[in-house]
Amino acid sequence: MIPVPRVAVIVVAAGSGTRLGGGSPKAFVGIDEHTILRHALRGVFAAPEAQVVIVAPAGREGDALTEALEAAGDRRDLVSVVAGGASRQASVQAGIHGVWPDVEIVLVHDAARALTPSDVFDRVLAAIDAGADGAIPVLPVVDTIKRVEGAEVVAAVDRSTLSAAQTPQGFRRDVLDAAYRAAKDEFTDDAALVAAAGHPVAAVAGDPLAFKITTPADLDRARGLVAPIAPVPIDLDRLPPVPRVGVGTDVHAFGGEDDLWLAGLLWPGEQGLSGHSDGDAVAHAIVDALLSAAGLGDIGTHFGTDRPEYAAAHADAFLSRTHALLGEAGWRIGNVAVQVQSNRPRFAPRRAQAEAVLSAALGGASVSVSATTTDGLGFTGAGDGVAAFAVAVILPA
Ligand code: CTP
Ligand code: MG
Repeated sequence: MIPVPRVAVIVVAAGSGTRLGGGSPKAFVGIDEHTILRHALRGVFAAPEAQVVIVAPAGREGDALTEALEAAGDRRDLVSVVAGGASRQASVQAGIHGVWPDVEIVLVHDAARALTPSDVFDRVLAAIDAGADGAIPVLPVVDTIKRVEGAEVVAAVDRSTLSAAQTPQGFRRDVLDAAYRAAKDEFTDDAALVAAAGHPVAAVAGDPLAFKITTPADLDRARGLVAPIAPVPIDLDRLPPVPRVGVGTDVHAFGGEDDLWLAGLLWPGEQGLSGHSDGDAVAHAIVDALLSAAGLGDIGTHFGTDRPEYAAAHADAFLSRTHALLGEAGWRIGNVAVQVQSNRPRFAPRRAQAEAVLSAALGGASVSVSATTTDGLGFTGAGDGVAAFAVAVILPA
C-alpha cells in the first residue's frame, strides 16, 4: 500500500459562484475545455505528494471525483471527495473531517485560485516545516489604498504594511483542528481563524497567477493565461495492489514399483503413482495454482520433462522452487487450498502432517488439504488414479 502522506490538501470547491454567474457552481465552469476545478487540481497534484480532499457542492461529489481521478494520475489512492457546507468555513470544516489520522500538515486551497503554481505549495510547506504554526502566501498591494465612507475618502492607508492573502494556506494539523473546533464566528480565511485562536501565521511569497476567479473579468483573465492540460500518464505499477487467485489440477494413475508419494508424504505399503517425478498430484496441482496466480505459466514451463533434475524429485523440490519463482516476481503466498479425490490412502490421520510438510516447502504459507472419494464414480472411484484440485491466493510482496 501507499504509505499515508504527512500532508493533506483540502480543496474547497463547494461555492455557488454567485458573482461569476456562470450558470453552474463555479468549480465546474470551464476555463478552456477543462473546468476551474480541474485546473486547480493540476497545481495540487504537481506539488509534493499529499492526501487530497475535495470539498464539492452537495450533489456534485461524483463530478468532482471524476475530475479528481483524471487529474490524480498515479495518486488516485490519495483522493477523496466530501460535500461542502453553506459557507466557506463550513466547507473547510467538512474537509477537515476527511483528513486521515496520521496527516501532520494541512493546506487549505480555494479551487477558485485555479492557476496557482505548485511552487506556492512548496513555499507554504517549507515555512511549516521550518517551525511555523501556519503560513500563507501573500502579494504586496500595488494600488494606493483609501478608507472610504459612503462617497467620501476619509483616510489614506499606508499600503507598505498591507498584503493580499492567497491560498493554499497551510497549518500544523493539530493547530488547525483545534482552531476550527473552537471557532464561534465566521472568518474570511483560515489564517484569520487560526490567528483568532492565538497562533502566529507566517507570510511567504504568493504568486500573481494564484489570483481568485471571482468575476467574469477574472475568468477572462484566466482564459488568456491558461496553458493546455496534457493527459496525465498512469503508471500501472502504482495502481492499488490487489490479490490474485490461481487454480491448478493434476491427475496421476496408480502404477509403478515404488511406494506412494502424495501431498509431500511417503505412504509405505500404498501403491505408487506413475508419472514424471513421483507423481505427487497434490504438489503438482499446488504448483500450477501458484504459477497461474502469478501469471508465470504452468508446471510444464518450469519443471518439464526436459528438466532431468526433477525426475526423481518430491514435493519439497517443486514447491520450494515455485515459492522462489513467485518471490522473484514480487509475490508472496496468501494461502493455498487443495483437495484430493481418491479412494485411498485415507488422508484424515495424516492431514496435519501433510499440511505441515507442504507449508514448510512454501516458506511457511498456509496450506489446507482436504480429501474426498467420488462415490465409486469416475476413474478415481474405480481406483485407477488420483486427482487433485488446488486454489491459491497470492499478494504483492
Ligand atoms: N467555497 C466553498 N463552500 C462555500 C463557499 C465557498 O467551498 N460554501 C469555496 C469556493 O468554491 C471557492 C472558495 O471557497 O473555491 C472561495 O470562495 P469564493 O471565491 O467566494 O467562491 P463562491 O462562494 O463560489 O463565489 P461567490 O461568493 O461569488 O458565490
Ligand atoms: Mg463566496
